Amino acid sequence: TNIRIFGFAGSLRKGSYNKALLRCALEQVPAGAELEIFDLGEIPPYNQDLDDRMPDVVRTFKSKIRAADAILIATPEYNYSMSGVLKNAIDWASRPIGDNSFDDKPVAIMSASIGMIAGARAQYHLRQTCVYINMHPLNQPEVMVPFVEDKIDHNGHVTDEKTRRKIKELLESLIVWTKRLKRS
Ligand code: FNR
Repeated sequence: TNIRIFGFAGSLRKGSYNKALLRCALEQVPAGAELEIFDLGEIPPYNQDLDDRMPDVVRTFKSKIRAADAILIATPEYNYSMSGVLKNAIDWASRPIGDNSFDDKPVAIMSASIGMIAGARAQYHLRQTCVYINMHPLNQPEVMVPFVEDKIDHNGHVTDEKTRRKIKELLESLIVWTKRLKRS
């Protein structure tokens, strides 16, 4: 059966470069794998009072994570960290205690930024969060896309060949990583 990858981006805007990275991944999913992309737009602000009666959209999000073999996250960098939208969604899915949907999942991380540092700082914050939620991030290749506005056309299509290749490599490596973690 196919390796199921579940992906989401930490930006809600229609023209998001990080969403574009996910679409580029979707165009290049290797044989033997499938990728579903989820939009975080409907996920409300986290409220711990709702841990025992989470909103339907959060339940759906959690069950899709659970059902996946691997996770793919595209994060923007907001003020040197991941976006609040992304952290908020992660916080929901990590709860309630004892039902952390991310537990033991492999994850690949990408980031796109209009700046030179390419979202690197956001990635490292996200990697730190992965420690507590016990996700296993892929180390290589690193997909950090600087000056991204030069690499995507007005339709939100990634046109830069090097970037496209890196994203394909990331998927291939994530599949190997996922199989390696499953073997026991
Ligand atoms: C940014 N941006 C940004 N870029 C960066 O490289 N480092 C940063 O710390 C920040 N900080 C930041 C804060 C906030 C609130 C916004 C809105 C933006 C710029 C950011 O890289 C740019 O807006 C990207 O286009 C965001 O990703 P999406 O929405 O295109 O996926």
